[in-house]
Amino acid sequence: VGVVEQRAAGRRAVDRFGTRWGAPDLLSTAPGRVNLIGEHTDYNDGFTLPMALPFATAIALGSTGDRESGDVRIDSTGFGELVIAGDGEVPAWARHLVGVIELLEATGVPARGWSATIDTDIPTGASLSSSAALEVAAINALLARAGLTWAPIDVARLGRRVENEIVGLQSGIMDQFISAGAVAGHASLMDCRELTLTPTPLPNDAVIAVMDTGTRRVLADVAYDDRRAACERAAAELGVAALRDATIDDLDRISDATDRRRARHVVTENARVLDVVERCRSGDIVGIGELMDLSHESLRDDYEVSGPGLDAIVDIARGAPGCLGARMTGGGFAGCAVALVRRTDAESFTSHVIERYDHDRHEARVWLCEPSGGASVDRTVCL
Ligand code: GLA
Repeated sequence: VGVVEQRAAGRRAVDRFGTRWGAPDLLSTAPGRVNLIGEHTDYNDGFTLPMALPFATAIALGSTGDRESGDVRIDSTGFGELVIAGDGEVPAWARHLVGVIELLEATGVPARGWSATIDTDIPTGASLSSSAALEVAAINALLARAGLTWAPIDVARLGRRVENEIVGLQSGIMDQFISAGAVAGHASLMDCRELTLTPTPLPNDAVIAVMDTGTRRVLADVAYDDRRAACERAAAELGVAALRDATIDDLDRISDATDRRRARHVVTENARVLDVVERCRSGDIVGIGELMDLSHESLRDDYEVSGPGLDAIVDIARGAPGCLGARMTGGGFAGCAVALVRRTDAESFTSHVIERYDHDRHEARVWLCEPSGGASVDRTVCL
Protein backbone atom coordinates (compact mmCIF):
# COMPACT_ATOMS: atom_id res chain seq x y z
CA VAL A 1 0.00 0.00 0.00
CA GLY A 2 1.50 3.28 -1.04
CA VAL A 3 0.36 6.84 -1.41
CA VAL A 4 -1.86 7.18 -4.50
CA GLU A 5 0.00 8.69 -7.44
CA GLN A 6 -1.81 11.02 -9.84
CA ARG A 7 -3.85 8.67 -11.99
CA ALA A 8 -3.87 8.39 -15.73
CA ALA A 9 -7.31 9.56 -16.88
CA GLY A 10 -5.69 12.26 -19.04
CA ARG A 11 -3.45 9.82 -20.87
CA ARG A 12 -6.37 7.49 -21.55
CA ALA A 13 -8.63 10.32 -22.78
CA VAL A 14 -5.94 11.50 -25.23
CA ASP A 15 -5.32 7.95 -26.49
CA ARG A 16 -9.01 7.38 -27.02
CA PHE A 17 -9.36 10.68 -28.85
CA GLY A 18 -6.41 9.69 -31.03
CA THR A 19 -8.03 6.42 -32.02
CA ARG A 20 -11.25 8.17 -33.00
CA TRP A 21 -10.39 11.58 -34.35
CA GLY A 22 -6.61 12.15 -34.37
CA ALA A 23 -4.81 14.64 -32.16
CA PRO A 24 -6.98 16.70 -29.77
CA ASP A 25 -6.51 20.47 -29.45
CA LEU A 26 -6.29 20.35 -25.67
CA LEU A 27 -6.58 18.26 -22.55
CA SER A 28 -8.53 19.69 -19.61
CA THR A 29 -8.20 18.00 -16.22
CA ALA A 30 -10.04 18.67 -12.95
CA PRO A 31 -9.57 16.79 -9.66
CA GLY A 32 -12.10 15.36 -7.22
CA ARG A 33 -11.84 16.42 -3.59
CA VAL A 34 -12.04 15.18 -0.05
CA ASN A 35 -13.24 17.56 2.61
CA LEU A 36 -11.16 17.31 5.79
CA ILE A 37 -13.59 19.29 7.95
CA GLY A 38 -16.34 21.91 7.53
CA GLU A 39 -19.31 19.91 6.29
CA HIS A 40 -22.60 21.54 5.31
CA THR A 41 -21.11 24.92 6.15
CA ASP A 42 -20.51 26.21 2.61
CA TYR A 43 -24.13 27.21 1.93
CA ASN A 44 -24.17 28.91 5.35
CA ASP A 45 -21.44 31.36 4.26
CA GLY A 46 -19.07 29.42 6.53
CA PHE A 47 -15.66 27.73 6.45
CA THR A 48 -14.46 24.43 4.98
CA LEU A 49 -11.07 22.73 4.63
CA PRO A 50 -11.08 20.56 1.49
CA MET A 51 -8.14 19.28 -0.54
CA ALA A 52 -7.92 18.09 -4.15
CA LEU A 53 -7.36 14.37 -4.72
CA PRO A 54 -4.93 12.61 -7.05
CA PHE A 55 -8.05 11.40 -8.88
CA ALA A 56 -9.21 13.57 -11.76
CA THR A 57 -11.63 13.75 -14.68
CA ALA A 58 -10.03 14.49 -18.03
CA ILE A 59 -11.53 15.84 -21.24
CA ALA A 60 -9.56 15.66 -24.50
CA LEU A 61 -11.24 18.09 -26.87
CA GLY A 62 -10.95 18.96 -30.52
CA SER A 63 -12.97 21.17 -32.81
CA THR A 64 -13.75 18.28 -35.11
CA GLY A 65 -17.47 18.44 -34.39
CA ASP A 66 -20.04 19.58 -36.88
CA ARG A 67 -19.60 23.34 -36.90
CA GLU A 68 -22.73 23.93 -39.00
CA SER A 69 -25.15 22.01 -36.80
CA GLY A 70 -23.21 22.78 -33.61
CA ASP A 71 -23.47 19.14 -32.55
CA VAL A 72 -21.25 17.98 -29.71
CA ARG A 73 -19.88 14.43 -29.89
CA ILE A 74 -18.78 12.77 -26.69
CA ASP A 75 -17.10 9.42 -26.25
CA SER A 76 -16.87 8.67 -22.54
CA THR A 77 -15.02 5.64 -21.20
CA GLY A 78 -17.60 5.04 -18.46
CA PHE A 79 -20.80 6.02 -20.27
CA GLY A 80 -20.19 5.38 -23.96
CA GLU A 81 -21.11 7.60 -26.89
CA LEU A 82 -23.40 10.56 -26.91
CA VAL A 83 -24.36 13.33 -29.31
CA ILE A 84 -25.64 16.54 -27.77
CA ALA A 85 -27.74 18.23 -30.44
CA GLY A 86 -30.07 21.18 -29.88
CA ASP A 87 -32.39 20.64 -26.93
CA GLY A 88 -32.53 16.82 -27.22
CA GLU A 89 -32.84 14.59 -24.15
CA VAL A 90 -29.61 13.37 -22.55
CA PRO A 91 -28.84 10.83 -19.81
CA ALA A 92 -28.51 12.18 -16.25
CA TRP A 93 -24.69 12.34 -16.18
CA ALA A 94 -24.63 14.45 -19.35
CA ARG A 95 -26.91 17.12 -17.90
CA HIS A 96 -23.80 18.51 -16.21
CA LEU A 97 -22.26 18.95 -19.68
CA VAL A 98 -25.42 20.34 -21.26
CA GLY A 99 -25.63 22.80 -18.36
CA VAL A 100 -22.05 23.95 -18.97
CA ILE A 101 -22.74 24.42 -22.68
CA GLU A 102 -25.97 26.36 -22.11
CA LEU A 103 -24.68 28.64 -19.36
CA LEU A 104 -21.40 29.39 -21.18
CA GLU A 105 -23.32 30.24 -24.36
CA ALA A 106 -25.56 32.53 -22.33
CA THR A 107 -22.45 34.45 -21.22
CA GLY A 108 -21.35 34.77 -24.86
CA VAL A 109 -18.73 31.99 -24.99
CA PRO A 110 -19.14 29.80 -28.12
CA ALA A 111 -19.67 26.31 -26.71
CA ARG A 112 -20.95 24.04 -29.52
CA GLY A 113 -19.44 22.16 -32.45
CA TRP A 114 -16.73 20.02 -30.84
CA SER A 115 -15.79 16.44 -30.09
CA ALA A 116 -14.34 15.08 -26.89
CA THR A 117 -13.36 11.94 -25.05
CA ILE A 118 -13.90 11.84 -21.31
CA ASP A 119 -12.24 9.60 -18.76
CA THR A 120 -12.02 9.67 -14.98
CA ASP A 121 -10.27 8.11 -12.00
CA ILE A 122 -12.80 9.57 -9.53
CA PRO A 123 -15.17 6.94 -8.11
CA THR A 124 -18.68 8.20 -8.94
CA GLY A 125 -21.43 8.75 -6.36
CA ALA A 126 -18.82 8.36 -3.63
CA SER A 127 -18.92 11.93 -2.25
CA LEU A 128 -15.61 12.77 -3.94
CA SER A 129 -17.15 15.41 -6.26
CA SER A 130 -17.04 13.63 -9.59
CA SER A 131 -19.83 15.92 -10.88
CA ALA A 132 -18.01 19.10 -9.91
CA ALA A 133 -14.83 17.80 -11.57
CA LEU A 134 -16.72 17.10 -14.79
CA GLU A 135 -18.19 20.61 -14.75
CA VAL A 136 -14.88 22.32 -14.02
CA ALA A 137 -13.00 20.29 -16.65
CA ALA A 138 -15.68 21.08 -19.25
CA ILE A 139 -15.83 24.80 -18.43
CA ASN A 140 -12.04 25.15 -18.61
CA ALA A 141 -11.89 23.17 -21.88
CA LEU A 142 -14.45 25.38 -23.57
CA LEU A 143 -12.94 28.58 -22.21
CA ALA A 144 -9.50 27.51 -23.48
CA ARG A 145 -10.98 26.69 -26.87
CA ALA A 146 -12.37 30.23 -26.97
CA GLY A 147 -8.99 31.67 -25.95
CA LEU A 148 -10.23 32.62 -22.46
CA THR A 149 -9.05 31.95 -18.91
CA TRP A 150 -11.23 32.68 -15.90
CA ALA A 151 -10.24 32.93 -12.24
CA PRO A 152 -11.03 29.72 -10.29
CA ILE A 153 -13.88 31.40 -8.41
CA ASP A 154 -15.62 32.37 -11.66
CA VAL A 155 -15.25 28.83 -13.02
CA ALA A 156 -16.63 27.54 -9.71
CA ARG A 157 -19.59 29.92 -9.77
CA LEU A 158 -20.62 28.76 -13.24
CA GLY A 159 -20.25 25.12 -12.16
CA ARG A 160 -22.44 25.72 -9.12
CA ARG A 161 -25.06 27.38 -11.33
CA VAL A 162 -25.10 24.22 -13.45
CA GLU A 163 -25.95 22.23 -10.30
CA ASN A 164 -28.48 24.77 -8.98
CA GLU A 165 -30.22 25.76 -12.22
CA ILE A 166 -29.85 22.81 -14.59
CA VAL A 167 -29.32 19.67 -12.47
CA GLY A 168 -31.60 20.95 -9.69
CA LEU A 169 -29.40 20.43 -6.62
CA GLN A 170 -29.04 23.45 -4.32
CA SER A 171 -25.39 22.68 -3.50
CA GLY A 172 -22.83 25.20 -2.27
CA ILE A 173 -19.55 26.39 -3.80
CA MET A 174 -17.06 24.04 -2.10
CA ASP A 175 -16.70 21.23 -4.62
CA GLN A 176 -16.24 23.31 -7.75
CA PHE A 177 -14.07 25.91 -6.01
CA ILE A 178 -11.53 23.44 -4.62
CA SER A 179 -11.44 21.51 -7.91
CA ALA A 180 -10.73 24.74 -9.82
CA GLY A 181 -8.44 26.44 -7.31
CA ALA A 182 -6.50 23.90 -5.21
CA VAL A 183 -2.76 24.32 -4.70
CA ALA A 184 -0.63 21.14 -4.78
CA GLY A 185 0.71 20.01 -1.42
CA HIS A 186 -1.89 22.00 0.53
CA ALA A 187 -5.42 21.70 1.82
CA SER A 188 -7.33 24.99 1.47
CA LEU A 189 -9.19 26.98 4.07
CA MET A 190 -12.22 28.15 2.12
CA ASP A 191 -14.14 31.18 3.32
CA CYS A 192 -17.49 30.71 1.62
CA ARG A 193 -18.59 34.31 2.23
CA GLU A 194 -15.44 36.09 1.07
CA LEU A 195 -14.94 33.34 -1.56
CA THR A 196 -11.25 32.99 -0.78
CA LEU A 197 -8.96 29.97 -0.62
CA THR A 198 -6.03 30.03 1.80
CA PRO A 199 -3.54 27.22 1.08
CA THR A 200 -2.88 25.37 4.32
CA PRO A 201 -0.06 22.79 4.59
CA LEU A 202 -0.89 19.65 6.55
CA PRO A 203 1.52 18.37 9.22
CA ASN A 204 4.13 16.02 7.73
CA ASP A 205 3.82 13.26 10.28
CA ALA A 206 0.22 12.43 9.31
CA VAL A 207 -1.41 11.28 6.09
CA ILE A 208 -4.97 11.52 4.76
CA ALA A 209 -6.79 8.22 4.21
CA VAL A 210 -9.91 8.28 2.03
CA MET A 211 -12.11 5.28 2.79
CA ASP A 212 -14.85 4.18 0.42
CA THR A 213 -17.71 2.32 2.15
CA GLY A 214 -18.93 0.98 -1.20
CA THR A 215 -22.39 2.34 -0.32
CA ARG A 216 -23.97 4.85 -2.68
CA ARG A 217 -26.57 7.48 -1.84
CA VAL A 218 -30.19 7.35 -2.94
CA LEU A 219 -32.37 10.46 -2.98
CA ALA A 220 -29.81 12.44 -0.99
CA ASP A 221 -30.87 15.62 -2.81
CA VAL A 222 -34.20 15.70 -0.95
CA ALA A 223 -32.45 15.56 2.44
CA TYR A 224 -29.87 18.10 1.24
CA ASP A 225 -32.54 20.64 0.34
CA ASP A 226 -34.30 19.94 3.66
CA ARG A 227 -31.13 20.67 5.68
CA ARG A 228 -30.49 23.79 3.70
CA ALA A 229 -34.04 25.02 4.33
CA ALA A 230 -33.66 24.36 8.09
CA CYS A 231 -30.50 26.50 8.14
CA GLU A 232 -32.24 29.32 6.30
CA ARG A 233 -35.20 29.23 8.72
CA ALA A 234 -32.85 29.32 11.70
CA ALA A 235 -30.87 32.24 10.28
CA ALA A 236 -34.09 34.16 9.55
CA GLU A 237 -35.37 33.57 13.09
CA LEU A 238 -32.08 34.85 14.52
CA GLY A 239 -32.14 37.85 12.20
CA VAL A 240 -28.74 37.09 10.67
CA ALA A 241 -27.80 36.89 6.99
CA ALA A 242 -26.48 33.33 7.37
CA LEU A 243 -25.61 30.91 10.19
CA ARG A 244 -21.99 32.01 9.74
CA ASP A 245 -23.03 35.03 11.82
CA ALA A 246 -24.65 33.04 14.66
CA THR A 247 -22.94 32.16 17.96
CA ILE A 248 -23.50 29.29 20.37
CA ASP A 249 -25.39 31.64 22.69
CA ASP A 250 -27.84 32.53 19.93
CA LEU A 251 -29.01 28.95 19.50
CA ASP A 252 -31.49 29.06 22.41
CA ARG A 253 -33.51 31.58 20.46
CA ILE A 254 -34.35 29.06 17.71
CA SER A 255 -37.84 27.82 18.56
CA ASP A 256 -37.94 24.54 16.63
CA ALA A 257 -35.87 21.83 18.35
CA THR A 258 -34.78 20.15 15.11
CA ASP A 259 -33.79 23.42 13.48
CA ARG A 260 -31.83 24.24 16.65
CA ARG A 261 -29.81 21.04 16.35
CA ARG A 262 -29.14 21.64 12.66
CA ALA A 263 -27.93 25.16 13.46
CA ARG A 264 -25.80 23.87 16.35
CA HIS A 265 -23.97 21.62 13.92
CA VAL A 266 -23.22 24.53 11.60
CA VAL A 267 -22.09 26.91 14.36
CA THR A 268 -19.84 24.35 16.07
CA GLU A 269 -18.50 23.02 12.76
CA ASN A 270 -17.40 26.49 11.62
CA ALA A 271 -15.47 26.89 14.87
CA ARG A 272 -13.87 23.45 14.42
CA VAL A 273 -12.59 24.36 10.94
CA LEU A 274 -10.77 27.43 12.25
CA ASP A 275 -9.45 25.39 15.16
CA VAL A 276 -8.09 22.71 12.79
CA VAL A 277 -6.35 25.37 10.69
CA GLU A 278 -4.63 26.71 13.84
CA ARG A 279 -3.52 23.19 14.74
CA CYS A 280 -2.21 22.61 11.23
CA ARG A 281 0.05 25.61 11.86
CA SER A 282 1.23 24.31 15.22
CA GLY A 283 1.53 20.70 14.02
CA ASP A 284 -0.95 19.36 16.61
CA ILE A 285 -2.08 16.21 14.80
CA VAL A 286 -3.73 14.76 17.91
CA GLY A 287 -5.89 17.87 18.25
CA ILE A 288 -6.83 17.80 14.54
CA GLY A 289 -7.91 14.17 14.85
CA GLU A 290 -10.09 14.93 17.89
CA LEU A 291 -11.83 17.73 16.02
CA MET A 292 -12.50 15.38 13.08
CA ASP A 293 -14.10 12.91 15.50
CA LEU A 294 -16.29 15.68 16.95
CA SER A 295 -17.30 16.72 13.44
CA HIS A 296 -18.53 13.20 12.72
CA GLU A 297 -20.55 13.08 15.95
CA SER A 298 -22.14 16.42 15.13
CA LEU A 299 -23.02 15.34 11.57
CA ARG A 300 -24.42 12.03 12.84
CA ASP A 301 -26.42 13.28 15.82
CA ASP A 302 -27.27 16.96 15.20
CA TYR A 303 -27.32 17.22 11.42
CA GLU A 304 -28.34 13.58 10.84
CA VAL A 305 -26.59 13.10 7.50
CA SER A 306 -24.38 10.12 8.30
CA GLY A 307 -25.35 6.58 7.32
CA PRO A 308 -24.79 3.02 8.58
CA GLY A 309 -21.88 2.30 6.21
CA LEU A 310 -20.21 5.60 7.13
CA ASP A 311 -20.68 5.03 10.88
CA ALA A 312 -19.34 1.49 10.53
CA ILE A 313 -16.17 2.47 8.68
CA VAL A 314 -15.53 5.42 11.00
CA ASP A 315 -15.77 3.10 14.04
CA ILE A 316 -13.42 0.57 12.47
CA ALA A 317 -10.96 3.29 11.46
CA ARG A 318 -10.87 4.65 15.01
CA GLY A 319 -9.75 1.24 16.26
CA ALA A 320 -7.04 0.93 13.61
CA PRO A 321 -3.30 1.51 14.23
CA GLY A 322 -2.23 5.13 14.00
CA CYS A 323 -5.74 6.59 13.59
CA LEU A 324 -5.90 10.14 14.96
CA GLY A 325 -9.51 10.86 13.92
CA ALA A 326 -12.14 9.88 11.36
CA ARG A 327 -15.34 11.31 9.94
CA MET A 328 -17.75 11.12 7.03
CA THR A 329 -16.92 13.47 4.17
CA GLY A 330 -19.06 15.33 1.64
CA GLY A 331 -22.85 15.47 1.57
CA GLY A 332 -23.27 12.28 3.59
CA PHE A 333 -25.56 9.21 3.88
CA ALA A 334 -23.16 6.99 1.88
CA GLY A 335 -19.91 7.14 -0.06
CA CYS A 336 -16.58 7.98 1.57
CA ALA A 337 -15.17 8.80 4.98
CA VAL A 338 -11.80 10.38 5.73
CA ALA A 339 -9.24 9.66 8.45
CA LEU A 340 -6.07 11.31 9.68
CA VAL A 341 -3.41 8.64 10.25
CA ARG A 342 0.12 8.70 11.65
CA ARG A 343 2.34 8.31 8.60
CA THR A 344 4.39 5.54 10.19
CA ASP A 345 1.22 3.43 10.68
CA ALA A 346 -0.45 4.11 7.33
CA GLU A 347 -0.03 0.62 5.91
CA SER A 348 -1.26 -1.25 8.97
CA PHE A 349 -4.14 1.24 9.25
CA THR A 350 -5.16 0.46 5.68
CA SER A 351 -5.10 -3.32 6.04
CA HIS A 352 -6.94 -3.13 9.38
CA VAL A 353 -9.84 -1.21 7.80
CA ILE A 354 -9.99 -3.36 4.66
CA GLU A 355 -9.94 -6.61 6.66
CA ARG A 356 -12.66 -5.65 9.12
CA TYR A 357 -15.16 -3.61 7.13
CA ASP A 358 -18.02 -5.59 5.57
CA HIS A 359 -21.14 -3.43 5.98
CA ASP A 360 -23.92 -4.85 3.83
CA ARG A 361 -21.33 -7.13 2.21
CA HIS A 362 -19.47 -4.18 0.72
CA GLU A 363 -15.71 -4.16 0.52
CA ALA A 364 -13.83 -1.09 1.72
CA ARG A 365 -11.29 0.64 -0.47
CA VAL A 366 -8.70 2.88 1.14
CA TRP A 367 -6.48 5.44 -0.58
CA LEU A 368 -3.64 7.32 1.11
CA CYS A 369 -3.62 10.72 -0.55
CA GLU A 370 -1.35 13.76 -0.69
CA PRO A 371 -3.12 17.03 -1.62
CA SER A 372 -3.07 17.56 -5.40
CA GLY A 373 -3.18 20.72 -7.47
CA GLY A 374 -6.34 22.16 -9.01
CA ALA A 375 -7.70 22.00 -12.55
CA SER A 376 -5.44 22.68 -15.53
CA VAL A 377 -5.48 22.80 -19.32
CA ASP A 378 -2.67 21.41 -21.44
CA ARG A 379 -2.54 22.62 -25.04
CA THR A 380 0.57 20.69 -25.94
CA VAL A 381 -0.95 17.22 -25.83
CA CYS A 382 0.71 14.91 -28.28
CA LEU A 383 -0.21 11.35 -29.03
C1 GLA B 1 -22.01 18.44 -1.22
C2 GLA B 1 -22.23 19.82 -1.83
C3 GLA B 1 -21.29 20.84 -1.20
C4 GLA B 1 -21.34 20.80 0.31
C5 GLA B 1 -21.23 19.37 0.82
C6 GLA B 1 -21.45 19.26 2.31
O1 GLA B 1 -20.73 17.98 -1.56
O2 GLA B 1 -22.02 19.79 -3.23
O3 GLA B 1 -21.59 22.12 -1.70
O4 GLA B 1 -22.50 21.41 0.79
O5 GLA B 1 -22.15 18.50 0.18
O6 GLA B 1 -20.44 19.91 3.00
